[in-house]
Amino acid sequence: MSPLDSPANPADAARAALAFWRSAGVDMDVAEAVFTAPAPQAQPSAPAVRLRAKAAPQTADAARALAAGANSIAELRAAVAAFEGCALKATARSTVFSDGVDDAPVLLIGEAPGKDEDEQGKPFVGRSGQLLDRMLAEIGLSRSSNILISNTIFWRPPGNRDPTPGEIIACLPFVERLIALSSPKLLILTGKAAAHTVLKREEGVMKLRGRRLNYTREGSAPVNAMVMLHPAYLLRQPQQKRLAWLDLLAAETWLRELGVATRT
Ligand code: URA
Repeated sequence: MSPLDSPANPADAARAALAFWRSAGVDMDVAEAVFTAPAPQAQPSAPAVRLRAKAAPQTADAARALAAGANSIAELRAAVAAFEGCALKATARSTVFSDGVDDAPVLLIGEAPGKDEDEQGKPFVGRSGQLLDRMLAEIGLSRSSNILISNTIFWRPPGNRDPTPGEIIACLPFVERLIALSSPKLLILTGKAAAHTVLKREEGVMKLRGRRLNYTREGSAPVNAMVMLHPAYLLRQPQQKRLAWLDLLAAETWLRELGVATRT
C-alpha cells in the first residue's frame, strides 16, 4: 500500500491520525506509547490522552507578530528572512520564500526546500520543480505570469529529512499570512505536509486530491483550495501521473469558472 493510500484497518487509521496531530505540532508521545506498550489484559475505561502543543510559545508569538506586521508579500518576505525562531535557518544556505508573481490568482504551497532550492534560494527548482513547471504549463500556469509558489517551511532540513512539527509550527504564521496577503482565487497544496498543515484535515492526500475544498480562517473569507499529488511523489510513482493529470484538469475547469484566464 502506498503511504498516500487511506488506511484500511483501525490501527493504521489511528496511526495516520497520530501522524496528522504530530504534523500539526501536537506532542503525541503519550498517544504513541499506546502502540508500543504491551496490550493491556482488560480495558476498562481507557484514560483520555492529553495533547500538548509543542511549539515554544515565544517562537510562535514572535512568528505571529512578525507575520502580522507585514502588509505586503514583499514585507512578509523580509519578515521571514529576519525570523530567527526556526533552527533550520542555522544549517541552511538560503531562506527560500517564494517565486512567481506576488499578486497572482493562484498560490501553490509545497513542503520544504531541498538541496537545489537551498542553493538557488527559490522554491521548486530541482527535479520535482521542473516536473511541477511542466505540469502547470499544461493548464497555462507559469511563474512568469499567473502563479506564486511557496512552501510550508522556508529553510532546507539537513539531508532533506522531513520537517519536524516544531519547524512546521514555527513557520505556519508566515504561511497563513502569505495566504491572507495573496488572497488567491485558488490555493493549490501539493503533498501531505502542505495539505495537512494548511487545511488542518486528517484525510490522506489520495482522499483529498482533486476535490473542491475550502481554506478557512476566522475573520477571513474562505479561499478555494485544491490538493494535488506532490511532484516528488510522481517522480517516484510515475504511474500516478494519470491522477495528477485529472487534478490539473479539475483545477483548470475551476479556474475557468472563477473567471481566471490561464491560456492566452
Ligand atoms: N519540494 C517542495 O515541496 N518544495 C520545494 O521547494 C522543492 C521540492
